[in-house]
Amino acid sequence: MAFPQQRLRRLRAQEPLRRMLRETSLASDDFVYPLFLKEGAGGKTEISSMPGVYHHCLDSLLKELEDVSVLSIPAILLFGLPGSKDETGSEAYAPQGIVQRGIKAIKASFPDLMIITDICLCAYTTHGHCGIIENGRVDNDKTLSILQQVAVSHAAAGADMVAPSDMMDGRVGAIRTALDDNGYTELPIMSYAAKFASHFYGPFREAADSSPRFGDRKSYQMDPANAAEALREIALDIEEGADIIMVKPALAYLDIIFRAKEKFGCPLAAYNVSGEYSMVKAAAARGMLEERSVMMEMLQSIRRAGADIIITYFAREAARVLKGM
Ligand code: PBG
Repeated sequence: MAFPQQRLRRLRAQEPLRRMLRETSLASDDFVYPLFLKEGAGGKTEISSMPGVYHHCLDSLLKELEDVSVLSIPAILLFGLPGSKDETGSEAYAPQGIVQRGIKAIKASFPDLMIITDICLCAYTTHGHCGIIENGRVDNDKTLSILQQVAVSHAAAGADMVAPSDMMDGRVGAIRTALDDNGYTELPIMSYAAKFASHFYGPFREAADSSPRFGDRKSYQMDPANAAEALREIALDIEEGADIIMVKPALAYLDIIFRAKEKFGCPLAAYNVSGEYSMVKAAAARGMLEERSVMMEMLQSIRRAGADIIITYFAREAARVLKGM
């Protein structure tokens, strides 16, 4: 049967029916809110390329979290900016590092908020790469033992989940072993499994002061042209013990999200990265786009593609829209 018997517009004519038939849901339960904690910061300073996102000192971060918990956002993703950097990123696993102290303070004030920590070295190394440099190259296996120490130090401070974003081979397995050996068998790993060498990270690198000082990240992050390789990366991370897999960035990689969900069916996060956020903010500031509607449409598309969790700088604003605020 076709037109005129079939008329799909009948199903679109009434708002209650549109609501009942909506195929994708979006809720604040789906969001993870990224935050930047900076050693030595006085108060909070807006990141110029990311309006509404700040470098926080501990006090201002705790203040911001009051809002986050009122909005029922279940989790945050914590990034640290250390007071000093060195060749091996040792502040990343210092027991009194900025993230380790931050975790303890947040837990003391917000025991029910889930703290996810980013495991990477790029904000902590003088060269700005995500691993240890040997003979001018990022050395995979030497980096693994450092990542293990970072993960264990976050677990010891009280993190609820760790999220390795470095893209070294074998790091999920190495981190799983280190966590288990130290008694953290229940701590889940969300791996940045398919992380592309993307120019959409530009604003983040200002935020985290983590640009590579030489070369680029193409020897460890993935070529944006590759989908089959993304599925191989994800398969390996699952095999090594990843509990949640992540695709990053989100919007230009919805096909990867879709294929990963179809193929593996396991819990999947997508990172709606800094550049995706800043584009909307910049266009809206110039009156070119209606910010709130575009934001909600983007987040819904990421869910429709197959993401269970969305890591997004829009988390607070989107949660407000969902609450009718
Ligand atoms: C660290 C890291 C990056 C992001 C998250 N963790 C940047 C990078 O790989 O250069 C990007 C997040 C964003 O753009 O919002 N490796």
